[in-house]
Amino acid sequence: MPGNHPGFPRFAPDVSPTRTLIRSADVGEHYFAEQPQAQSRPGSVDLVLPDLHLRLATDRGMFSPDRIDLGTRVLLETVPPPPAGGDLLDLGCGYGPIALTMASRSPQAIVWGVDVNERALGCGRRNAQAAGLDNVRFCLSDQMPADPRFAAIWSNPPIRIGKQALHDLLTAWLPRLAPGGRAHLVVQKNLGSDSLQRWLGAQGWPAERIASRAGYRVLAVDPKDAP
Ligand SMILES: C[S@@+](CC[C@H](N)C(=O)[O-])C[C@H]1O[C@@H](n2cnc3c(N)ncnc32)[C@H](O)[C@@H]1O
Repeated sequence: MPGNHPGFPRFAPDVSPTRTLIRSADVGEHYFAEQPQAQSRPGSVDLVLPDLHLRLATDRGMFSPDRIDLGTRVLLETVPPPPAGGDLLDLGCGYGPIALTMASRSPQAIVWGVDVNERALGCGRRNAQAAGLDNVRFCLSDQMPADPRFAAIWSNPPIRIGKQALHDLLTAWLPRLAPGGRAHLVVQKNLGSDSLQRWLGAQGWPAERIASRAGYRVLAVDPKDAP
């Protein structure tokens, strides 16, 4: 089974609903720095899902390097299976837990992981190679080829960049959903999931809450002019 990687031992998932990493402790920079200044300190986390177990390389200066973020876990445990083929997008991929899960669940698809943090992208590439997942590409957002339309977009979006920047980000990427495609976004209720849902609807992207767990909402977003 493509999602099984027997070289990785099983560990109990290590998640804490009370801890949200928003800054690198080393230098106080944000996790979305393009070139993190925090001194490199390689680490690893275990991504344990019913269908997949990966040990992922992480480092300082990126989002949630010590454990899989709870929001990411809620998304991966509740989202419907991705389309079997086509281009799929993880918007704000970090070291790649979402992109790699999509790649494992849809081995015939091409998965794109985009981010602004080059160190995180480097971890993502190493993680794909270690997992033997050759259908995933990690690249800077501004190096993403213009043509692909995405059959699915999954994202734990960077809420901390600020409301306007988040709206700009979604306005840039959601129009790239293919007809019939769907985006799934996980957002903490305390960080504005409900107002984001309203904003999406007001922009013409119908957004439906498909899951609510541990203080997180998973929103499913359809393209504009979806039937
Ligand atoms: C909440 S983190 C999620 C990371 C990863 N997907 C995970 O689940 O662990 C959001 C990510 O968005 C990235 N990001 C911030 N601004 C971005 C932008 N303009 N375009 C793409 N990614 C961005 C951050 O660097 C960060 O890695």
